[in-house]
Amino acid sequence: MSEKKVIIKELTIEKFSQKGKAIAFDEKKNKIVITNAVVKDVILAELNKKKHKGIIKGRILEILKPSSFRENPKCKHFDICGGCIWQNIKYLSQLEQKQFFLIDTFQDFINKTNVEVHPIVKSKNIFEYRNKMEFSFSQNRKKTKFLGLIMKGGRFVIDIQRCHLADIWFSKVLIEVKNWWEKYDVDAFNYFNGDGFLKNLTVKGGKNTQDKMVILTTSDSYILTDEEKKDFIDHVLKSIHPDKKISIFLNTQISKKGVKTTFNLQKLYGDEFIREDLNINALGKKIKLSFQIGPNSFFQPNTHMAEVLYATAINYLDKQEIKDKTALDLYSGTGTIAMILSKFVKKVIAIELSENACNMAKENMNLNNIKNFEMINGDVSKVLATLLSNENFEKPQIVIVDPPRSGLTDDAIDNILKIYPETIIYISCNINTQLENIKVLAENNYQLKILHPIDQFPHTFHIENIAILKRT
Ligand SMILES: C[S@@+](CC[C@H](N)C(=O)[O-])C[C@H]1O[C@@H](n2cnc3c(N)ncnc32)[C@H](O)[C@@H]1O
Repeated sequence: MSEKKVIIKELTIEKFSQKGKAIAFDEKKNKIVITNAVVKDVILAELNKKKHKGIIKGRILEILKPSSFRENPKCKHFDICGGCIWQNIKYLSQLEQKQFFLIDTFQDFINKTNVEVHPIVKSKNIFEYRNKMEFSFSQNRKKTKFLGLIMKGGRFVIDIQRCHLADIWFSKVLIEVKNWWEKYDVDAFNYFNGDGFLKNLTVKGGKNTQDKMVILTTSDSYILTDEEKKDFIDHVLKSIHPDKKISIFLNTQISKKGVKTTFNLQKLYGDEFIREDLNINALGKKIKLSFQIGPNSFFQPNTHMAEVLYATAINYLDKQEIKDKTALDLYSGTGTIAMILSKFVKKVIAIELSENACNMAKENMNLNNIKNFEMINGDVSKVLATLLSNENFEKPQIVIVDPPRSGLTDDAIDNILKIYPETIIYISCNINTQLENIKVLAENNYQLKILHPIDQFPHTFHIENIAILKRT
């Protein structure tokens, strides 16, 4: 008889990791991660015998005493779907946990200096808040087809009938596209061997406009016939009211060994762009801006909380003091923050690496009739170095940064320090890299004044945080 591979143990969940995982410890102080458990749950758990990277993984066999933070998840896929891992925790407890992570991360600053830490701003909606979802195609060995989200802690895709993170229309499209796929003998792309065809289905929608967009991403291993494309369009159209606006794209990834991967984007139906509006209430002014969003454009995924994020950040500036000043929006994406700021300052210069996002920003500038805005395409540190080498460059007094999760590079920080602005507003989706960067800024005459977290992603562990730094 083979040796049993699991251990059964009673455990109390002691904390969450910053990645949202429920952690318990056994009598030997081994770290145990339990899927779908909640802090303060007392559970009977089935544990793997073997440690993986110093951690024992386990699952709940029985909840002996449920935590008071627990709540029944709304989603029927919750137990296995990796889309959101905190749906079984009361929303207020999720917020408390995020606030705790922030304070814990910035503890040294909070202890040593006079940092104002604001309570995390609640998301306006805790369900149906996302304006974009990316679903995956997959097949198992028996060729059963799956279209949905990746399993918790796994690599496999599960079928999704209803995802509550986005409007019900997203799920209707998903079901229609699955129905379309069932009719044809085309395979999902296999990431392990590079075979197969269907990769992702991206669904986007304007929360304030109801415009809709669907993008089917495939490999180049097959070419859909005109009939298959038309049938795809017909299936997608079935998911919407005939009066609604929709754009449908086919995005083919072209991969050749030794050659850089390229994409061939083909519009199958509707306009090139959809529109989303932002209603910002900042510095006593109500601003409405419209944005064209293309198939490749980045846009903050929670529209209503993006409105709150931008307004909260800008409200830390003084309207009178900034009206004759120049601002820099670094890592600007499609220039959303820059366009809002342009209403309050003399001039904004935005820098963004993605050429596509820069082009979209320029379109959006024209759409909103904004003239005091310069968009520069390139790497932040290189563009700043070039600007600084020009002796006529007027150094901006306000710098806003919103970098990717990896944070600011040393060169980017050096160049920001050479500009030496009065105020730095640092927006981040990764409080750990934000902390490391702020430590360097603090060693170079900047004082961290304010931390203001915003909840953009209920039911996930993600935190968006605004930090305000002032030159001392
Ligand atoms: C978190 S997004 C911020 C987008 C924007 N602030 C917004 O709210 O829509 C980060 C942006 O930084 C850009 N980026 C990444 N690395 C960069 C670099 N080295 N230089 C300039 N932009 C970069 C990405 O293309 C992306 O648009």
